[in-house]
Amino acid sequence: MTMANSLSIRDNRSGKEIELPIIEGTEGPGVLDFTKFYKEFGLFTLDPGFRSTASCKSDITFIDGDKGILLYRGYPIEQLAENSTYLEVCYLLLKGELPNQDQCGEFTKTITKHTMVHEQMLNFYRGYRRDAHPMAIMVGVVGALSSFYHDSLEIDDPRHREISAYRLLAKLPTIAALSYKYSKGQPFIYPDNSLSYSANFLNMLLSVPCQPSEISPVMVKAMDLILMLHADHEQNASTSTVRLAGSSKANPFAAISAGIGALWGPAHGGANEAVLSMLQEIGSVDRIGTFVERAKDPNDSFRLMGFGHRVYKNYDPRARILKKAAHEVLADRDRLDDPLFKIALELERIAQEDEYFKSRKLYPNVDFYSGIIQSAIGIPTNMFTVIFSVARTIGWISQWVEMISEKGQAIGRPRQLYTGHKKRDYVPLAQRKIL
Ligand code: SDX
Repeated sequence: MTMANSLSIRDNRSGKEIELPIIEGTEGPGVLDFTKFYKEFGLFTLDPGFRSTASCKSDITFIDGDKGILLYRGYPIEQLAENSTYLEVCYLLLKGELPNQDQCGEFTKTITKHTMVHEQMLNFYRGYRRDAHPMAIMVGVVGALSSFYHDSLEIDDPRHREISAYRLLAKLPTIAALSYKYSKGQPFIYPDNSLSYSANFLNMLLSVPCQPSEISPVMVKAMDLILMLHADHEQNASTSTVRLAGSSKANPFAAISAGIGALWGPAHGGANEAVLSMLQEIGSVDRIGTFVERAKDPNDSFRLMGFGHRVYKNYDPRARILKKAAHEVLADRDRLDDPLFKIALELERIAQEDEYFKSRKLYPNVDFYSGIIQSAIGIPTNMFTVIFSVARTIGWISQWVEMISEKGQAIGRPRQLYTGHKKRDYVPLAQRKIL
């Protein structure tokens, strides 16, 4: 009897037919349940880049790429950006609900109290060259956190999972700021528990012992917004890396370090740094046309960085919010005539009118304007992806907690289509042909 909610697949070679159950979610496309497929048919599914593959079930973030919708635990990103704070969004992503007054106070106090790192961790930095990319330092130092916290590595213990999540959330800004100070040869700045999360982060990044930092409320709000908008994004490359690394029951610090490595690539979180380099290379509005033509040329590897997205085939809602914030921050810093911002606005206008970009539904993504804002508040380009990794840590650890807590959680182990040599016998060295 054919199941109502199913898809029948027939192997025309043998005439064998199988029904695959269709499972519907609360929003967005349903899925075909392939768990029995290999057993029944002896075939794997092949989907390089996972364009048609759902790797897991999740309650955390929903994206509708066609409509440009992003929900964190059901709340629209526009409403959170307008009304919430990064720490409140962290509570929401990790626990599933917005905190009440007491919960918010308790959570803020706990995170604030754990912002320092073990003093011995500072030795790790001195092993790096001064000109090391800060992301190289982040991958190493975050992975090393597990060597200090043996008291919270029982990942099957919900309390240990919570303590590790809190430690990562509290210490990532400190580790990030230390990586920047080290690269500048400036003294390390310790956390200041009298400041808010984002104000403390900016203070550790921008202040020096000989003079207090000039951090304005607009800069703090801009940093908090950037952190909020980058907090989670369903099963992107770095989150999928964290899930896969964590599925082997590696400790959360190792899994997050793997995610930082994946985020670093220019096709992913490294794009924000690449956008600034691209805008600087374009140099002036009248050179935009040349670069747009290069981006369209299939024989030229140049891409418009900050454009296009695997899921969004509409304007990335985060880019829309960041574009507005860029105006506000540049106005506050009296830099509305910022040449790179002018190039970015004109580049977006030209690309949006060009058939190549329109037909491929290539719009600005989260990385297109975030660098403009970070530059305006004094963050150097090589720290943009580090800031992204600080922001995304809550998304990674929330998805890791969701995976590890799942009943029947199994190690992720994809198969392959083998196209190599068939079995062949060893040839002794003396008998091998000289080519
Ligand atoms: C992030 O997944 C997430 O959620 C990621 C992220 C998150 O929050 O975690 O949103 C963060 O990583 C945003 C993306 C940042 N990356 C960039 O801005 C780099 C530039 N973008 C491209 O590299 C690309 O758009 C990707 C990697 C983002 C998406 O690549 P896809 O989905 O594999 O798309 P594709 O390469 O199949 O492109 C389809 C077509 C191709 O042309 P044709 O072969 O059809 O002729 O569009 C073209 C591509 O050549 N294309 C571009 C382009 N992006 C795609 N052409 C010029 N410039 C671009 N930026």
